[in-house]
Amino acid sequence: MAKRYAVVGVGSRSTMYTKALANDYRQHAVLVGLCDNNSARLELARRSLPADHPEVPLFSDADFGAMLRQTKPDALIVVSKDVTHSGYIIAGLEAGLEVITEKPLTTDEHQCVKILETLGRCKGSSLRVTFNYRYSPPRSQIRRMLQMDRCIGDITSLDFNWWLDTRHGADYFRRWHRNRVNSGSLLVHKATHHFDLVNWWIGSHPVEVFAQGRRAYYTPQTADEVLGLSGRSDRCHTCKVHDKCPFFLDLAANENLKTMYLDCEHADGYLRDRCIFSDQIDIWDTMSLSVRYASGALMSYSLNAYLPIEGYSIAFNGNRGRLEHKACENTYVSGDGSVPGELARSNVSTTLIPAFEKPRSVEIEHSAGGHGGGDALLLDDIFLPEQSADPLGRRASQLDGAYSILVGIAAYRSIDAGRPIRVDELVRPELLA
Ligand SMILES: NC(=O)c1ccc[n+]([C@@H]2O[C@H](COP(=O)([O-])OP(=O)(O)OC[C@H]3O[C@@H](n4cnc5c(N)ncnc54)[C@H](O)[C@@H]3O)[C@@H](O)[C@H]2O)c1
Repeated sequence: MAKRYAVVGVGSRSTMYTKALANDYRQHAVLVGLCDNNSARLELARRSLPADHPEVPLFSDADFGAMLRQTKPDALIVVSKDVTHSGYIIAGLEAGLEVITEKPLTTDEHQCVKILETLGRCKGSSLRVTFNYRYSPPRSQIRRMLQMDRCIGDITSLDFNWWLDTRHGADYFRRWHRNRVNSGSLLVHKATHHFDLVNWWIGSHPVEVFAQGRRAYYTPQTADEVLGLSGRSDRCHTCKVHDKCPFFLDLAANENLKTMYLDCEHADGYLRDRCIFSDQIDIWDTMSLSVRYASGALMSYSLNAYLPIEGYSIAFNGNRGRLEHKACENTYVSGDGSVPGELARSNVSTTLIPAFEKPRSVEIEHSAGGHGGGDALLLDDIFLPEQSADPLGRRASQLDGAYSILVGIAAYRSIDAGRPIRVDELVRPELLA
């Protein structure tokens, strides 16, 4: 019998799940309810389903409980704004559901503790976090080389630099992500992907984090003094100096952005194109971390969000050599209709340098599609009824979700406090066992 899915959150990312449910996986899965705080976007989500799809009931955020009672789902997909995840995850677990949540698990340690405590109480329910990067073939390949082949022996340290460019990186400063209360800052919202990859690649978990951060570029000073944008508005749509601004986002000119955001503003007042130079932004665009892992490995990590390049570089040092891996991703604006985070094979490189030997270039395992080919494989793993073998451990549990955000949360607590923060100061160790 087809499994029944309810979905909370009908924004840009949600379309991947609703399209999958209504089309490719229709034989095995049925979409039974949609919930969001924006009634216009809910109507759009319903209109976007195939013409022959059965009518799907819509529920406001206040009626989330009614959705669970009336539609009786087996599973809940949480794909709403980050700060809202925990309330829906907890309600879903308490209703005995299989809960599938988008990253990040949540945005602060208090909500993380509540989720882990709920899981301890609600034995019949389950939680997984959809870390699509794990499924991307070149990233899976790194896991196999480090953990299965042990190509560099024990990993002692890592240098990891993530680059967001002036197109994709800037976009976080226009949207709800620009305030820490919504997203936990980019250290949680974005870097949860990166910290999850590291935890998984090195097979360990974080113990202590020291961080520094600043907003160096997306500031009123850059607009006034570097770009000469005085007289700007608080959003692109009404901005008088938009013709001079290299960051101008024209919501009206892109059909996807227009229908999903501009045409839905009247329902909740949310503006998708706020000025990236606003003094109301309170997240960092320049971040630097030092992280110690339970295995003893040490990581230097940086995240910069205003670069002329999009992608990352990571180097693992071990007692039998070094592995270097670099990827340049296609850049995009979320929800504009382009494929997010696609990778061209020629833009990925992995080099193994065994101790006392010459460097060897590694043939890249590759796949097209969203997030380095990870999205399609992730959907198969979620929606196909037969659970395939998972030798690489790509299915992420609540602990994986927790450990990935705890690096970012410890980092922002460290920036606040000006001292290193231990993960066990944030969450009781028994909850992470
Ligand atoms: N894994 C990935 O690669 C990936 C990519 C993009 C987004 N995401 C995640 O997907 C989620 C949604 O992001 P998005 O890009 O679609 O953002 P979005 O702004 O397009 O959509 C967010 C949706 O949440 C809704 N919402 C806000 N408050 C709500 C509430 N209280 N109750 C119910 N709904 C509420 C909004 O109305 C909107 O429809 C986020 O958690 C994000 O981190 C993951």
